[in-house]
Formats: sequence, C-alpha cells, structure tokens
Amino acid sequence: MEVKKFMVIGAGQMGSGIAQVAAQAGLNVVLHDVKEEFVNRGLGVITKNLTRDVEKGRKSEEEKQAILDRIVLSTDINNAKDVDFVVEAVVENMDVKTAIFKQLDEITPTHAILASNTSSLPITEIAAVTNRPEKVIGMHFMNPVPVMKLIEVIRGLATSDETYRIVAELSEKMSKVAVEVNDFPGFVSNRVLMPMINEAIYCVYEGVATPEAIDEVMKLGMNHPMGPLTLADFIGLDTCLYIMEVLHEGFGDSKYRPCPLLRKYVKAGWLGRKSGRGFYVYE
Ligand code: CAA
Ligand code: NAD
Repeated sequence: MEVKKFMVIGAGQMGSGIAQVAAQAGLNVVLHDVKEEFVNRGLGVITKNLTRDVEKGRKSEEEKQAILDRIVLSTDINNAKDVDFVVEAVVENMDVKTAIFKQLDEITPTHAILASNTSSLPITEIAAVTNRPEKVIGMHFMNPVPVMKLIEVIRGLATSDETYRIVAELSEKMSKVAVEVNDFPGFVSNRVLMPMINEAIYCVYEGVATPEAIDEVMKLGMNHPMGPLTLADFIGLDTCLYIMEVLHEGFGDSKYRPCPLLRKYVKAGWLGRKSGRGFYVYE
C-alpha cells in the first residue's frame, strides 16, 4: 500500500510537528482537532517554522507555500473516511485514545493503518478496541518533531510485519530514523528519560538545589542540551505526570512513583511552557 493521504488527530505541539514533517515529505495531510482555534494554532506554528526555514535559506518561498498547500484543517472526524494512514497525538490518556481508535476503526477504509504517538501507553491495549489490531502500531515522534531524528516504533502483540514495514518506509521519507522496540510501559525512551526527570523534581522537592542549579549540573556536567526541569517544562508537566503514572501502574514498582511536587504543579495548572508557568515562568 502506498500512503498518500495522511491524517493527524490532535493539533498540539506534537500533532502540528507531525503534520509539518508529513507535508514536507510530500504527503497530503489532514490536521484534525476538536476546535477550530486549536487547528489554527497548530497551522500557525507550522507556518512560523517554515518561515524561519525560508529566512535561513533552507527552503524557497515556493517550497514553503507548496508544503502549506498540502495541509487541510479539520474539526470533523468523518474526514478520516478516505485516508491511508492516521497518527493520533491527543492527550496521554487511555480512555480518550481508545474512544478515538474505536471511531477511526469505523470511519477509515479497511486498508488504513492507525498509529499512536503515545509516549507510554500500551499499543496492544489500544489495538484491542479495533477490528484491525494487525494495522495498529506506535509511531513515537520526539519533541520538537521538525528537529529530532528519532521515531521509536512500537509493535503491539498483533502488529503485522507489513504494518511495521510501511511505518519504517514512511519514517525514512520524513528524514527520520525508525528504531524498533517492543510494547512495555514507557517503551525505551520514557522508561529511561522520565525517571531522570522525576528524580530532578524530587531534588527540588527535597531542597537539594534550585531548578536553575539542577539544570546547570546536567547541562554542564553531562552535556545535556537542556536541563531536566527545562525539558520537563518543554514536554509538558501533565504529560510527564501521565507517563510516570503509566510506569508506576504498569510495573507496580515504587521506584516509578511520581514526585508529589509534580502532582501539585499539574493540579495548579502549572503545565510548563504551554501554560506559561512550570519550574520556570514563560512570557
Ligand atoms: N520547533 C521547530 N524547530 C525548533 C524548535 C521547535 N520547537 N526548537 C528549536 N528549533 C530549531 C531552531 O530553530 C534551531 O534551528 P536553526 O538555528 O537551524 O534555525 C535549532 O532547532 C536549534 O535551536 P536553538 O539554537 O534555538 O537551541 P538549541 O541548540 O538548544 O536546540 C533543541 C534546541 C533542539 C530543542 C535542544 O535544546 C534539544 O535537543 N533539547 C532536548 C530535546 C529533547 O530531549 N527532546 C526529547 C523530549 S522527550 C520526547 O519527545 C518523548 C516524550 O514522549 C516525552
Ligand atoms: P498537547 O496538549 O500540546 O496537544 C494535545 C492536542 O490534542 C490538543 O490540541 C487537544 O485539543 C487535542 N485533543 C484532545 N482530545 C482530542 C480529541 N478527542 N480529538 C482531537 N483532538 C483532541 O499535547 P502534546 O504534547 O502534543 O502530546 C500529544 C501526545 O503526544 C500525547 O500522547 C503525548 O504523550 C505524546 N508525546 C508528547 C511529547 C512531548 O514532548 N510533549 C513527545 C512525544 C509524544
């Protein structure tokens, strides 16, 4: 099967990035969210990124326009009726994701592949609510999508070799590198990354050091491009908390307990960059 029409569900920071790289790869893209203001915001981010590329001489104005022309906005899920491939990138919540996969299974053509950009949730469980578990797969892009090379590809229990092959080809077309992993909570990326971020939050909680000092230690001492608290704010503290909860519940091991300070910030609506405040304040 050749993927021509590609749909992204959720036009937040990940969904808009995924729509951008898919359109750059020459695919016709439908970018869908629940409200017009959300899809417009997503398209605004894509336009800003492409404008920077033009200013830096990496793309011509015509290329930018051709990429934008390949993106169609949607607030009606029925627009999935003629797509070949869907990537879901909505909030990290199993009930929300399974409700969407049930709908997509009914609306999309039977040949369509249904992928999730979930950071940590079991692909096998998402696939089980559909009648096509062999065509369900994890396609985990990294943030910021236009910059990061990796796509962690997660096979559910029933994912077919053909589905994996199409996703690996698509990743290459998007100039990304696909790395195959199996379906365990947090996969590899967030099983390794998120406990480090959670531990950095414990350091703030226990008064070991200030957020600035913790970030400085990891940047200067370990050559990380961003300190763990800057990165947590960048990812979204709500997403960090959901991932820790998936690890904690999935493994039943107390080493994954989310730091109480992380819970407190999320309850306060301090979600990091996207809400203007997290460990740092953003203009
Ligand atoms: N969208 C698009 N492009 C972006 C961007 C964004 N949000 N942020 C930065 N860039 C681009 C910049 O435009 C710049 O490109 P040019 O200068 O060539 O135009 C380039 O990236 C470098 O940016 P900066 O010079 O401003 O800053 P930097 O050198 O610190 O790089 C960074 C920015 C690439 C984000 C870097 O800080 C970094 O790698 N941070 C860590 C990111 C990371 O760990 N991501 C994974 C998060 S975990 C995840 O995604 C999985 C999950 O499930 C939670
Ligand atoms: P976000 O909050 O920026 O965006 C989520 C978007 O989904 C919002 O625009 C919201 O309106 C939309 N949405 C919610 N319910 C919807 C529905 N029923 N139908 C259509 N759209 C709906 O979140 P994000 O950071 O883009 O994360 C999205 C997914 O990607 C999550 O599963 C997250 O774990 C994963 N992820 C996040 C990162 C990261 O660094 N933030 C990295 C990799 C993967």
